[in-house]
Amino acid sequence: MSSIQSYINSNKDRFLRELFDLIRIPSVSAKDENKADMVKAAQFLKDSLLNAGAGKAEIYPTSGHPVLYAEKLISHDLPTILVYGHYDVQPAEPFELWNTSPFEPVIKDGKIWGRGADDDKGQLFMHVKAFELMSKTGNLPCNVKFMVEGEEEVGSVNLAKFCNDHKEMLAADVILISDTTMIALDTPSVTSGLRGLSYVQVEVTGPNRDLHSGLYGGAVVNPCNVLCEMIASLKDNKGKVTIPGFYDDVKECSAEERAEMSLRPFDRNKFMQSVGVTRLMGEEGYSDLERIGIRPTLDINGIWGGYTGEGAKTILPSKAFAKISMRLVPYQNAEKIAALFIKHFISLTPEGVTVKAEYLHGGESYVSPLDTPEYSAASKAVEDTLNKKPIPVRSGGSIPVVATFEKVLGIKSILLGFGLESDAIHSPNENFPVENFFRGIETIVNYYRYFSSLKLKKDHI
Ligand code: BES
Ligand code: MN
Ligand code: MN
Repeated sequence: MSSIQSYINSNKDRFLRELFDLIRIPSVSAKDENKADMVKAAQFLKDSLLNAGAGKAEIYPTSGHPVLYAEKLISHDLPTILVYGHYDVQPAEPFELWNTSPFEPVIKDGKIWGRGADDDKGQLFMHVKAFELMSKTGNLPCNVKFMVEGEEEVGSVNLAKFCNDHKEMLAADVILISDTTMIALDTPSVTSGLRGLSYVQVEVTGPNRDLHSGLYGGAVVNPCNVLCEMIASLKDNKGKVTIPGFYDDVKECSAEERAEMSLRPFDRNKFMQSVGVTRLMGEEGYSDLERIGIRPTLDINGIWGGYTGEGAKTILPSKAFAKISMRLVPYQNAEKIAALFIKHFISLTPEGVTVKAEYLHGGESYVSPLDTPEYSAASKAVEDTLNKKPIPVRSGGSIPVVATFEKVLGIKSILLGFGLESDAIHSPNENFPVENFFRGIETIVNYYRYFSSLKLKKDHI
């Protein structure tokens, strides 16, 4: 048995126990009531990294939740990996849909169940334990730095400044991130791209208060009706977004890239079944995977107004609201798209209501080059662990700071994710297969080895 395997085997239970302790801290970044838990989670990871062998670990306050930075520097002559992850999680609501308590993790059917089990506590903790393994067994082949934030799920609003303020401290050859998915352990993939995001909120105001819907309805403009009509017009019957200029900067994928994408295994029926729908729809002229991976889109994330409580209340609402996300692809800019959205949305305002629209957060897409030592190392590391060469897959999800890292720090990222689509991240019953957790640790150790040797070879040519 390799030393990697034997270290993992003799520490398996402790690794899981520690991960459970981390999941038990309800570090929900969106909620004020969890502010102290954010610090607790950062502190927990600081202690974990110090125990694992970090020479230094420090918590940096920001105007939001703190950033944890840790490092183990062994030599100027060796390359440096910067690990990024996030300790914050999405709110667990609706609680009643969980089969087990979200912050009381359990193992059942070979999976860890709990909020953050995958996104991103489980995946981040693979890095902490891979680092511990290498450092305790004398197998660390390069310098390592950790940057762990607590605001990824709310738009990483303070991380660009943190990077700007600490460029030298964060200097590295590659950023390694496990916060994405792979197709399956027997169909391994490496994420080769992420979509960008532009997130807006809109508000339509009609009468100065909720009105009796019988005494006023039919004559007074109803902001909920108006909002529905406005939003409905944002896509045409071919699934195209109607905002003028929305597609102007989109870089079309080459025919070769699209042909390669079409080879990716995808079972449409299984996919529909897994989300409980009987039909898929989207932009005309593109396959399901293209609609998710390489095309921009617009979706309502939440819509409300008027009476939404129990039973019926007959009112004509004063206000209506919606939260809308636009997923972006290369060369689309989040702020520019938000500005186009706002201008267009305001222009749709019918007489009798007022409309407000505001940009909440966002960031650009990311495409990872495949002909670099950083990517080859990922491919080889996965192949070593899972015995199959992984295929590159452009994901529909977003980690907006990845583009920021490239812009501010000038460092490319490798997205070495071990989540599965069935992990239900952001949903009730989030889970992470125990096997993925341990395979992830092994792969990360392999990554360090391949990356260091490929990097040193390349630098010496
Ligand atoms: N880890 C996810 C992103 C992800 C998951 C990418 C799976 C690819 C595959 C991340 O935590 C996330 O949820 N990102 C948000 C954006 C953020 C700005 C709130 C998203 O994609 O909605
Ligand atoms: Mn995440
Ligand atoms: Mn997330």
